[in-house]
Amino acid sequence: MRVLGIESSCDETAAAVVTDAGDVLSNVVASQVATHAPYGGVVPELASRAHLLSIVPVVRGALREAALDPPEIDAIAVTQGPGLVGALLTGMSVAQAMAWAWERPLLGVDHLVGHLFAVYLRSTDAPAQARPAMPYIALLVSGGHTALYEVRGPHAITILGQTRDDAAGEAYDKVGKLLGLGYPGGPVVDRLAHRGDASRFELPTPMAHGRNFDFSFSGLKTAVNRQVKARGGRLTEPEQADLCAAFQRSVVSVLVKKSLRACRARGVPRLVLGGGVAANRGLRAEAERQAKKHNVEVFLPPPHFATDNAAMIAYAGALRAADGGGPAADHAPLRPYSRSPDVRRGKF
Ligand code: KG4
Ligand code: ZN
Repeated sequence: MRVLGIESSCDETAAAVVTDAGDVLSNVVASQVATHAPYGGVVPELASRAHLLSIVPVVRGALREAALDPPEIDAIAVTQGPGLVGALLTGMSVAQAMAWAWERPLLGVDHLVGHLFAVYLRSTDAPAQARPAMPYIALLVSGGHTALYEVRGPHAITILGQTRDDAAGEAYDKVGKLLGLGYPGGPVVDRLAHRGDASRFELPTPMAHGRNFDFSFSGLKTAVNRQVKARGGRLTEPEQADLCAAFQRSVVSVLVKKSLRACRARGVPRLVLGGGVAANRGLRAEAERQAKKHNVEVFLPPPHFATDNAAMIAYAGALRAADGGGPAADHAPLRPYSRSPDVRRGKF
């Protein structure tokens, strides 16, 4: 089965064709970073307009790259939420229209579920790697969400804990902004952290010792702000790098500690990372180092499948459809949602 995936929940317009075995036949991502960078964050109305301009060329690009014609597509999967409703509607309207016109099933996919299964994707531009057996513990770290899950099956996903304030990616972006590094801050802070000395600044590791699986990053961001203010808002380049390194060390240490604690508490010796922050070099290296010490196997998606993409949406759609989560029998239009309703009930 070949599934065309479409993703437009935030600031990337993406389309991909993936088989139900997880082989990526094409993967096209149009980033809107340049559109939002002058504002220091995503402007929802501009995001919707940019999706509108990109969606058709991106979908055409995905079909061309896969060398497939529409009749060769067996199903269409589209992100239904969580995300910006105007942005979601663009992808969903196009997906819905194609599903009707081509007479193919339409699968609504939760963006977070996409991130949780991205580690299974295989493509020719990424080295082949082992895939995790279920159950596994998944750390989802993105711009909008930070949470730990126990994944037992495509429809058996339980949340163990989540952030009480900022998401990890959001904290990275805010620190990038405080240091005048532009938007999005995550990749730049990661790069600078690599050159810096983490021991020069003393920063907290919030909630590292709590017994729960929750996170909190806003206090850490405030501590970074205090250091910036103490220097009159002007840091030298080495100071910037050192502060980034100290910030990254705190974030990474809390994320890895709690993830491994969850593995131990649930008796599950497999850890999967997903979401944009899973592209972070410091996090990847520390997760691998600590997991080895604790006899936990760690599975990391390649960076371009950790950040937003449509291949993960196509694959999650295929996986869930095979597990009895096919399209609604009445072909009723899908509704977008800004927050995952089931996550609030502790399950999705
Ligand atoms: O999963 P994602 O692409 O979009 C959401 O679903 O939110 O995650 C985007 C987030 C942004 O906050 C971005 O700064 C962060 O992931 N990010 C990183 C890195 N690459 C992207 N954060 C830290 N280090 C990175 N290398
Ligand atoms: Zn995402």
